[in-house]
Amino acid sequence: MSTLQNRTAKSGRETFTSGLAVFFATLGSAVGLGNIWKFPYLTGQFGGGAFLLVYFLCILFVGLPVMLGEFYIGRKTRKNAVGAFQQLKPVSGWKHIGTMGVAAAYLIMFFYSCVAGWVYYYLYKAVKGDFIAITPESVKTQFTDVIIGPVSPILWQVIVMAVVGGILILGVRKGIERITKTLMPLLFVLIVICGIRAITLPGAYEGLKFLFHVDFSQLSAAAILTAMGLAFFKLSLGMGTMITYGSYFTADNNLFGTAAKVALSDTIVSMLAGIAIFPTVFSFGMEPGAGPGLLFMTIPLVFSKMPFGNLLLIAFFFLTSIAATTAMLSLVEVLVAYFSEELGFSRRNAAIINAVIICGVGMLAALSADQASLLGNVTFLGRGFFDWFDYISSNILLPMGGLFIAIFIGYFLKKDDIKKELSNQGNLTIDKLIDVYFVIIRYVTPALLVIVFLNSIGIIKV
Ligand code: PFF
Repeated sequence: MSTLQNRTAKSGRETFTSGLAVFFATLGSAVGLGNIWKFPYLTGQFGGGAFLLVYFLCILFVGLPVMLGEFYIGRKTRKNAVGAFQQLKPVSGWKHIGTMGVAAAYLIMFFYSCVAGWVYYYLYKAVKGDFIAITPESVKTQFTDVIIGPVSPILWQVIVMAVVGGILILGVRKGIERITKTLMPLLFVLIVICGIRAITLPGAYEGLKFLFHVDFSQLSAAAILTAMGLAFFKLSLGMGTMITYGSYFTADNNLFGTAAKVALSDTIVSMLAGIAIFPTVFSFGMEPGAGPGLLFMTIPLVFSKMPFGNLLLIAFFFLTSIAATTAMLSLVEVLVAYFSEELGFSRRNAAIINAVIICGVGMLAALSADQASLLGNVTFLGRGFFDWFDYISSNILLPMGGLFIAIFIGYFLKKDDIKKELSNQGNLTIDKLIDVYFVIIRYVTPALLVIVFLNSIGIIKV
């Protein structure tokens, strides 16, 4: 290998090969357990339609602008989350936004890898035929058995991390790009099938009503903060993932277009998951606010008593494992890019070390996911490890990262530089759009974030 190639491989500075690859890889990061697991259960817990409406507003006025900002920072600098800030503002504390992102990546991975382990395990159980004669009662027992363990949830978490680490060692093109481009479209088709099946169940209407009926009396400060946090989590924002991915984008990619397409497609997938899950919940007389087990206790029922039901169930959990895996690739890529570019590790060692750290600490999430688990009773201020990892990352670190990124883009960089990069050196005529973008990222996005934070700690009331 020539010295130059060597250096490229070592620093991980590959790019995706085409616009389509950029789209699917970015969508692969956005679409994951967030759509299929988290979005439905939070919508269920926080009362349906009104939560959904706030969520949409967060995507539009906060998520999209921050996503574009991250793409800009990444592609302009072609660096990892920490190095990118460092390059744009060398002697300053801004690089700590990147450091905060690294911390968020760990916290998310600690619980995400655990839930992904449950999904892999469900896939295995579906293949074994465990769900063939499933009933609303036995589906609950199955779920509790899977998460209590204590050995099996940890074992599956380790398997998950071995897969993620292995793919990351392969690199950006051979690993991330190839997997996302093939399997994302398939997932979409399967969720549509799931949705169609669910809305033809008896009593499905009640579920759709729950999802779409807006009742503002259901909207608490906690619900608004959670919707905001979910928007960040969903679009993989506020922690440098989209900076890192942006750094692999092709130079001629239309960043506005990619951000809009990814946010829209991601939201469609979440809605489809909601349409598959809520009619099932109501049709089988289950509880929409059942919490993190919602996905696992409903989907086996969607396919029960249906021709080829078990086969479809296998396909569903296979594709959900893929969605979870591609999202984790982007999460761990933040760490791998940081370790290899800033700390001098090889890509391979960076992937291995991080997989080990995530398994080691993530075990605490796996052992505290249920009251009956080994660490189920260990709580601090009312939350166990699993919940704290999730709460601190989604509801605090990501929105805070987003706030700093909006301020950084809006007030600390030259508008002309940003204009140049977003218009691909003047090749796209999007002057008006950029002006609107600047108004939003300077005033609207930070104001909304601050209001949501203050509202959540009770300083103001909305
Ligand atoms: N967006 C992913 C999901 O919804 O499952 C989760 C995620 C990936 C969050 C990457 C944050 C991130 F940086």
